[in-house]
Amino acid sequence: MKNVPAPRDAVAAVDPFHAIALSRIAGDLAAAGVDVIHMEFGQPSTSAPLRAIAEAHQVLDSKAMGYWESNALKARIARHYADAYGVAVDPEQVILTCGASPALVLALSCLFTPGARVAVARPGYVAYRNTLKALYLEPVELDCGPEERFGLTAAALAKLDPAPDGVILASPANPTGTIIPRDELAQIVRVCRERGIRIVSDEIYHGLSYVEPAASMLEFEGDAFIVNSFSKYFSMPGWRLGWLLVPPASIVAARARMGNLFLTAPVIAQRAGLVAFDCDDVLQAYLDTYACNRQLMLDALPAMGLATIAPPDGAFYIYADIGHLTEDSLAFCERLLRETGIATAPGVDFDPIGGSRFMRFSFAVSTAEVERAIERMIPWFAAQPHPAVPAPAG
Ligand SMILES: Cc1ncc(COP(=O)(O)O)c(C=O)c1O
Repeated sequence: MKNVPAPRDAVAAVDPFHAIALSRIAGDLAAAGVDVIHMEFGQPSTSAPLRAIAEAHQVLDSKAMGYWESNALKARIARHYADAYGVAVDPEQVILTCGASPALVLALSCLFTPGARVAVARPGYVAYRNTLKALYLEPVELDCGPEERFGLTAAALAKLDPAPDGVILASPANPTGTIIPRDELAQIVRVCRERGIRIVSDEIYHGLSYVEPAASMLEFEGDAFIVNSFSKYFSMPGWRLGWLLVPPASIVAARARMGNLFLTAPVIAQRAGLVAFDCDDVLQAYLDTYACNRQLMLDALPAMGLATIAPPDGAFYIYADIGHLTEDSLAFCERLLRETGIATAPGVDFDPIGGSRFMRFSFAVSTAEVERAIERMIPWFAAQPHPAVPAPAG
């Protein structure tokens, strides 16, 4: 019998994350005694704040852990929106999730039905494209290059014909770290209102800014769905805790989906997360380390011959153009790893078209590791042949 794939299967095909394959090679190299420096994943190498860890020990030793939702944490998150952005949020609008990833699934499933078209920036976080496809939604990728500061713009959204049903925005963004300026956010909201485009704003890198602090989409659009997490600023990726902020009209729909798809977030993470919210002293010290690492990388890039990078306003990434050295970023990153022990992420993970000419460094490691990485990378990059790589058409 002929096995003809249904048209929907093409939409649902989810691509692999190449950095995971590189990380496996890094693991094998480390097992063989190589000093591997992990700059491939966007995860802090620091622990959760110690006071949060102490709370977790307490919970383990003394409390039952059933399905549970912390009203205190929801109230604390609501207060954070008043303190940090000056916007009023009802704690009932906060859905506690197992990280930003399920929050994104909830948001998309509340807002869209199969076949809906959702705009995303290219380059962008790989899971946007793949989560959309897994939910039978259609990613509409907008090419965002140096002219757009590698970010989605109101003008690009205004030009899309037909208008998409939704858009996922990220500021600071992954893989670039670029922040969308406030006036551009306001313009984006204007276009979205005019064209009936629903907004999902992924604010997972908030708190990690080296220029002006990133604005929340909620300051401009009360109807936006806001995704956030404890995985980045709070340095708690493995604790699996995040939240989705939904407009009042969507609370019932979002809670129904949370209950059916995921039940609740882990008790231990919720208790520790509440404590982490008041550990700014520790978390600001982590930010100081990233700021120092970022500066070290920026200072080293010219010596590595990397002149074109996306504006690293926030997060902990540098997305660099390596088009003068290769048109196969995956092979290039693997060679860098095998020859220097430095694991990075190839641009193809974030941009299946132009990403073959880019790579991403995560500097969320220790300063000593960044220094060692730079020491090895400067001579390695200098020794690379410069093939005449044709510029991509268009
Ligand atoms: C932009 C962005 N959104 C969401 C996520 C998923 O984060 P979480 O660990 O909270 O699920 C990541 C992880 O790297 C990310 O970079």
